[in-house]
Amino acid sequence: RSLASPLENVSPGSFPLVRPRRVRQANWSRRLVAETRLSVDDLIWPIFVVEGENQRVPVASMPGVERLSVDLAVAAAHEATELGIPALALFPYTDPALRRDDAREAFNPDNLVCKATRAIREANLNIGIVLDVALDPYTSHGHDGLLIEGRIANDETLEALVKQAMVQAEAGADILAPSDMMDGRVGAIRRALEAGGYRDTMIMSYAAKYASAFYGPFRDAVGSSSTLKGDKRTYQMDAANTDEALREAALDLAEGADMIMVKPGMPYLDILQRISQDLRAPTYAYQVSGEYAMLMAAIQNGWLDGDRVVVESLLAFKRAGASGILTYFAPRVARELRDRATG
Ligand code: PBG
Repeated sequence: RSLASPLENVSPGSFPLVRPRRVRQANWSRRLVAETRLSVDDLIWPIFVVEGENQRVPVASMPGVERLSVDLAVAAAHEATELGIPALALFPYTDPALRRDDAREAFNPDNLVCKATRAIREANLNIGIVLDVALDPYTSHGHDGLLIEGRIANDETLEALVKQAMVQAEAGADILAPSDMMDGRVGAIRRALEAGGYRDTMIMSYAAKYASAFYGPFRDAVGSSSTLKGDKRTYQMDAANTDEALREAALDLAEGADMIMVKPGMPYLDILQRISQDLRAPTYAYQVSGEYAMLMAAIQNGWLDGDRVVVESLLAFKRAGASGILTYFAPRVARELRDRATG
């Protein structure tokens, strides 16, 4: 005899005894049985920073997203704090004249993200600052690493990344987020932080970062799409792979990462679920620029209901096991969640 089916009592043609719809009938009962929740505490807001004062430069492929000068980035940090968003991720639009083959602006202690970090720190807010460790906003060729004899040179890049990480820690970044996908970067950065007295600086590694077409609008925002020569497939992961993502994430944790990230987000929920279940470490998802652009295009056309679809897209990350989500929708969602809570 086979095992009893849970539906055995439901006799066709008669009335069902088991009615899954009972608990769905009211807002209060739906809330009571909800298995996952989305809260403002889950959000990290990525912001693009540009030189100047009182500057807002729209990013064409990301409607509603602007590059902000440092003073306005500080204002955004105040806004985020008031909304209860726990952390910001800052990305620089680097002046093209400062982009070099050796990415030297990445380790200038007065570069744009370091200035923005210090300015936000001075405001003394209850908010974390995440900085990307990768060379792409600083290289003349738009790659995340140093290009030597036509190849992205792993170990030479590590030296540059360590220098970059140290100026960022010095500027006051709370979380360093290596997004370059070089081998051994987390260990190299962690060792340098320990030796340099930055024992409390957290590392959120972009552990499973795929070579994805969904990053296009981001590269517009940081100004690397026109400079990028070739693609990033010799260092970012192949979309065909899952086991490899687990090995990458396990390695980064062993090398001293405190948190790991999966990127892109929605098309990679399977990866997020496997990593969060197998490794039981704080795991984040990045709802990347292309996902934002897709949703915004449909929302602006009136094809999708913005408030509902955005919250639903983020709840999907929670269901898959995310501890939190980097999303350009962070302030919009924080407001939406607050409005729902107050009726
Ligand atoms: C840089 C970096 C990228 C993103 C975050 N950090 C782009 C890339 O790797 O080409 C993408 C974020 C997004 O698309 O929103 N290494």
